[in-house]
Amino acid sequence: MFALSETERLVQRTARDFAARVIAPKAAEIDASEAFPSHILRGLADLGLMAINVPTELGGAGAGVMAYALAIQEIARACASTAVMTSVTNMVSETIARFGTHTQKGLHCPKLASGEHVLGSFALSEPDSGSDPGAMRTTARRDGAQWVIDGAKQWITGATYAGVLLVWARTAPAETGSRGLSCFLVEKGTRGLRVGPPEDKMGIRASNTVPLELDACRVPADALLGDEGGGFKIAMEALDGGRIGISAQAIGIARSALAESIAYSKDRHAFGGAIASQQAIQWKLADMQAHIDAAELLAMRAARLKERGGRYTREAAMAKLFASESAVRICNDAVQIHGGYGYMRDLPAERHLRDARVTTIYEGTSEIQRLVIARGVLE
Ligand code: CAA
Repeated sequence: MFALSETERLVQRTARDFAARVIAPKAAEIDASEAFPSHILRGLADLGLMAINVPTELGGAGAGVMAYALAIQEIARACASTAVMTSVTNMVSETIARFGTHTQKGLHCPKLASGEHVLGSFALSEPDSGSDPGAMRTTARRDGAQWVIDGAKQWITGATYAGVLLVWARTAPAETGSRGLSCFLVEKGTRGLRVGPPEDKMGIRASNTVPLELDACRVPADALLGDEGGGFKIAMEALDGGRIGISAQAIGIARSALAESIAYSKDRHAFGGAIASQQAIQWKLADMQAHIDAAELLAMRAARLKERGGRYTREAAMAKLFASESAVRICNDAVQIHGGYGYMRDLPAERHLRDARVTTIYEGTSEIQRLVIARGVLE
């Protein structure tokens, strides 16, 4: 089930090489300066890594879900900020490829793949609805040949640089809950779309995260993605796939934390020997490795199930829950292994811990993943 194809290995090698050569040397600097890594994202697009699981006829790499997960993992080993923007853009592109009309796909997928749209954004969350999108307040009403969108979005990854945004809005009364939502393609620069200032975050500081205001934002009737009222299911399907990406991001961050912990513990001496010879350190390293492997197996299972078609909601939730919670623990242990040095900004251990923390929150909190898993268990 988990044997890799030649294409998957190629994508993995390509991402690993670019991450080591181009991304890793810049990761600490862009974290500190919060500089948007445009040249890195351009390089990833040139390598086909912005639309990995999008058909080649739409400009994508057509390499599949496993290849997507492997690439995100490699990118995250170097820089979690770059990884999340890459992951979300892939998710947006896949969603348009899956639900778009011929025209919508032709208009946006090639641009997302080539980097002409620097990023794609997924605008679901709002100031008062994160875990419960069915409670969103943004509305869209039909006015002749247009939709008029009004409302606000919060914590939107990459929106300052997005060429196209998926924006969810209520097209039926509030009582309809999640069944009254629709999804719209909103292009950069559309009148009435206002992108707010970047958030000051704990981690993934080079990733662009902004609020949006939609003030009588008019889009043409054919900007509706999928069916009117079908927006919630589009969001849920997209997030099932996105959660594989966030699992991969968490695994990548954890892998770096482990590699640095191994190197440090062999190098650092205390009580007459390398600290790697102490059982207290060995047990931490063993737990870290076991959790990374288990997380990777869960993520690979979800990826293969997605490739086969059919629902993999529960498997993606398990992968995301386990990988993200493990990453936080692993990165925390990595700081502990590094002792005082681990708490300093000079070494990457503290960045990994700050970066890992958000993986238990975005694309569905750990509590939401448990809810999804429990529903399946109790079915
Ligand atoms: N795939 C397809 N359909 C699905 C689905 C899925 N994964 N999950 C639910 N549905 C369908 C249901 O079958 C149901 O269909 P019917 O109306 O035909 O019966 C419908 O959707 C409603 O489902 P529920 O009753 O289960 O919906 P709910 O309101 O109880 O919510 C939830 C379920 C799992 C809690 C969901 O709201 C959820 O996942 N919340 C978290 C949202 C989230 O992850 N937000 C992240 C923001 S985006 C982000 O972070 C991106 C970024 O930039 C990094």
